[in-house]
Formats: sequence, C-alpha cells, structure tokens
Amino acid sequence: MKVTVVGAGNVGSTCANVIAHKELCNEVILLDIKEGIAEGKSLDMWQTSPINLYDTRIKGSTNDYAATAGSDVVVITSGLPRKPGMSRDDLIATNAGIVRSVTENIMKYSPNTIIVVVSNPLDVMTYCAYQTAGIDSKRVFGMAGILDTARYRAFLADALNTSPKDIQAVLMGGHGDTMVPLPRYTTVAGIPVTELIAADKLNAIVERTKTGGGELVNLMGTSAWYAPGAAAAQMVEAIVRDQKRIFPCCAWLQGEYGMKDIYLGVPVKLGKNGIEEIIELQLNADEKELLTNSAGAVKEVMNVLDGMQATAK
Ligand code: NAI
Ligand code: 2OP
Repeated sequence: MKVTVVGAGNVGSTCANVIAHKELCNEVILLDIKEGIAEGKSLDMWQTSPINLYDTRIKGSTNDYAATAGSDVVVITSGLPRKPGMSRDDLIATNAGIVRSVTENIMKYSPNTIIVVVSNPLDVMTYCAYQTAGIDSKRVFGMAGILDTARYRAFLADALNTSPKDIQAVLMGGHGDTMVPLPRYTTVAGIPVTELIAADKLNAIVERTKTGGGELVNLMGTSAWYAPGAAAAQMVEAIVRDQKRIFPCCAWLQGEYGMKDIYLGVPVKLGKNGIEEIIELQLNADEKELLTNSAGAVKEVMNVLDGMQATAK
C-alpha cells in the first residue's frame, strides 16, 4: 500500500505522521511545491521511527509527481489559508487552481487512486478535484465531518466529564457555520445525550462546534492541524484496511436527501472502494430545514467556482 499526502504544511505533515505511526501502508510520500520542505519533514519524521517503532517509509518530494506513482490513496492538503485583504472569491480561485493542478498530476501517475480532499473551502475544493479527476465520485470525497464531529464529541466529553471514547455522534452539511450537528443521533455509551445534559448546555455545545474552526484560528492565528491531520488519516485507515466504517464525509449527492449535483457532508460507509454507501438518515422537519440551508450555502460557493470556470473558457 502506498499513500501520498500533497501539501507538507501543518495539516499534511500531521496526517503523514499519523499514517506512519499507525503503519497504515508501506510507504508515505509527502509532496510540496516549496523546495526541500517535504524532504526535510519526511526525514525528520522517519528519524522518529526507531523511537516510536514503526517501519512505514516516509519520503519527501519537491513537486516530483513521479514519486507518487501507483498511490492507492492521495490526501490533498495543499492550499492557502485566507489572508488579510483576500476576498472569499480570491481564495476560491487560488485554491481551486492549486487543487486542479495537483489533481491533474496525481491522476497522471495514479489513475486508480482514491482522493481525499482537505483543502478549503472544503466542499467546493472536493467538487473541483472531482471535476478535474474525471473518475467515479465514490473515489473523490472530502474530510470535514470527522473533524467537526470530533470537536463536538470532545466538547461533550468535557461537559459530561466522561471519556470521549464513549461518545458517538453524526453531523451533516457543509464545512462551515451552517453545519448541522444532530443531537438526536448523539449517544454516550448507547444513552441518548439528551438524557444526560440540559438542553441549553447541549445547544451551547452545538453552537460552539459550528464555529470550532474559527475558535482555533482566533487562538493561534492560523487554522488547526492536529485534529484535521488525524481525521484525514482516519479516513485513509478505513480505506486501506477496508474497515467499512461509517463517518460523516463530504460526498457527491445524486438524489440522496433529495439533493442532486452537490458535494455535502453526509454519513457514508468507507472501505477499499472509497465510499461504498451513502447512508440516508430519517431527518425530522427541523433537521431537514437546517440541511437545506447548509446545502444552499455550499451551492452558492460551487456556483462561484462554476462561474469562474465559465469565464476562463
Ligand atoms: P499550510 O499553509 O501549513 O500548508 C499548505 C501547504 O500547501 C504549504 O506547505 C504549501 O507550500 C503547499 N502548497 C501550496 N501550493 C501547492 C501546490 N501547488 N502543490 C503542492 N503543495 C502546495 O496550511 P495547512 O494548515 O496545512 O492547511 C492546508 C489546507 O487545509 C488549507 O486550505 C486549510 O484551510 C485546510 N484545512 C481544512 C480542514 C478541513 O476540515 N477540511 C481543516 C484544517 C485545514
Ligand atoms: C478548521 O475547521 C479552518 O477548516 C478549518 O479547522
């Protein structure tokens, strides 16, 4: 098994590190456009192998896609975070350009790969990779729901003074403030969470989850990486070990939840073929409304990307 992580920044290098520590494959390629950074970080990580006792090889590459040839899974983390003075549209244009060229190069060398997108704005960058790759949508999907759910579960573990291991949850929608945590589908060791926490406290946790990414940007001046990197690695694990795990992922909808031609966070089953099933929950009217609202926000940004592409033609 071979996994490539594109982008050796905070998220990409964390993801590669987790993959190697867990020995998810024989070889991890870390690739970045910045001269030497991927090689340097890979060498540094590889030098932890005698300490942490793993033998997954980690190799770095400065933009040489030949090194990625034959990858079973590729994680795309390359992209800029938003900078002062940069409009949302500028960010879409810049990151779409990066995701498009990365996807083209990846497909040249690994035509059978599965692609996991992490770059933001997540739902739309996943759409961009899907359009560029020209492969089945079961093989192109995005990471956000595992991260957003992990934040929600961690907040709940604190509030309930319980182990995060016992908290199961699902969350849907776009990766942004319109995401839809689902308390009705949240349990603690099988007990509905609503039986363990007051409604106002649960609601505050739901609201904190929705802005969980922004909370970290405010604290650190840049976006998070430990949880995002680990979340992407968990998706890689489900694929390479054919685990059939159910996670919220950003998937291409073709009628599911009454939606069509949109990438949106929904629960899916992940295995060796990528998305093996999209799971349709029975949402109530309020949940449906929140999901529709979130889909509307994602569609708006997808339309911006479509508009840019039409102008460029
Ligand atoms: P970073 O700035 O630390 O790393 C990005 C890396 O991408 C840099 O090393 C840069 O040189 C590289 N890069 C840029 N253009 C490239 C190209 N054409 N080919 C190869 N590499 C290229 O950023 P960080 O923190 O690692 O975040 C990466 C992306 O992930 C951002 O877009 C961020 O917004 C997103 N993100 C998404 C999350 C999610 O839940 N989906 C969570 C956290 C971050
Ligand atoms: C996060 O949720 C900003 O997408 C990034 O941490």
